[in-house]
Amino acid sequence: MNTVQEKDFLPLPALADVPEAGSVSWRSSSNIALIKYWGKRKGQLPQNPSLSLTLDHCATTTRLAFTKRKTASGDFSFHIFLDGKSNKSFEPKIRQFFTRIAPYISFLEQYHFDIHTSNSFPHSSGIASSASGMSALALCVMELERQLHTDMSLSHFRNKASFLARLGSGSACRSIGGPWVVWGEHSDIEGSTDLMGVSYPYETHEIFTGYRDTILLVDTGRKEVSSTLGHQLMHDHPFAEQRFTQARKNMGKLKRVFANGDLESFVEIVESEALSLHAMMMTSSPYFILMKPNTLEIIHRVWEFRKATDTPLCFTLDAGANVHVLYPKSEKDRAQKFIDTELAPFCDSGRLIHDKAGMGISRV
Ligand code: PMV
Repeated sequence: MNTVQEKDFLPLPALADVPEAGSVSWRSSSNIALIKYWGKRKGQLPQNPSLSLTLDHCATTTRLAFTKRKTASGDFSFHIFLDGKSNKSFEPKIRQFFTRIAPYISFLEQYHFDIHTSNSFPHSSGIASSASGMSALALCVMELERQLHTDMSLSHFRNKASFLARLGSGSACRSIGGPWVVWGEHSDIEGSTDLMGVSYPYETHEIFTGYRDTILLVDTGRKEVSSTLGHQLMHDHPFAEQRFTQARKNMGKLKRVFANGDLESFVEIVESEALSLHAMMMTSSPYFILMKPNTLEIIHRVWEFRKATDTPLCFTLDAGANVHVLYPKSEKDRAQKFIDTELAPFCDSGRLIHDKAGMGISRV
């Protein structure tokens, strides 16, 4: 059963009397998918449901300063600043975002926007900033809409922020909520929808409370394959349908694991999803290998450690070489000692980030 429809997000009636100037500010965390989204349909709709862990420390803070324009001239006027410095490289992405959300937001052309953004993680870390960045900006746009329509409910605010964030970057819609967020309709998950992310609606076993994620920065260079291209490559991929079916099945399995706390099955689902994502890249045309030798070193060491010590830690991967190592809060000391001594040497300049489950968003 879907709770929302696209028409719920149509623009609220434009007001004659909009504020002259002001600013709004939101912080939004990144998220890491356990069930991966890879492949989309027109309109930024996913080919399969995905589920992610919302992080706590890895976040973007964005301040949207707005000034009413003398004449609204049928285009968007904005400037982007990253860590206080003017940044032109994000302009095409933000213009595309504004173009996509314009059918749902009435005031975009009435204002000039200065977008001041900064990430808590190093810019060159290879951590995708699009999830936290697009969700923080979507929240700012919604905050302005809320200032214009003060009777807006909190659930509408969050739902529409996630809906808009999705139009910027699919995975960004999963940053609004937490600690586990589902995006994409699945028959076993009530309220799940392709339109936006929803916080996982069922109670989870206590072992999943405060789950940890250490991000190992293996390769901090530019992404070799943009996710836009990666999603496109699923269009005529020989294994696409099997992959989408696998993801749907894994979502059902993960629901059972969330209820019974079976970490052995959790590890199996999470690692299989990560490797399936990379298998899709290796078997597309053109094909890619995004893992680096150190990615594989780390994976093997995680497996050895798990076998030798019976610690339920596992890995997942994004569309890149960095490794996320996941483990329960109760294993924090043992796992971090292992990571700091045995895995850090395989990271770029030994860099890693110890993070944990978070709730996603906060107004600054
Ligand atoms: O949100 P996008 O278009 O950057 O795609 C993200 C894709 C993965 O990070 C590889 C998987 C996911 O579900 O986040």
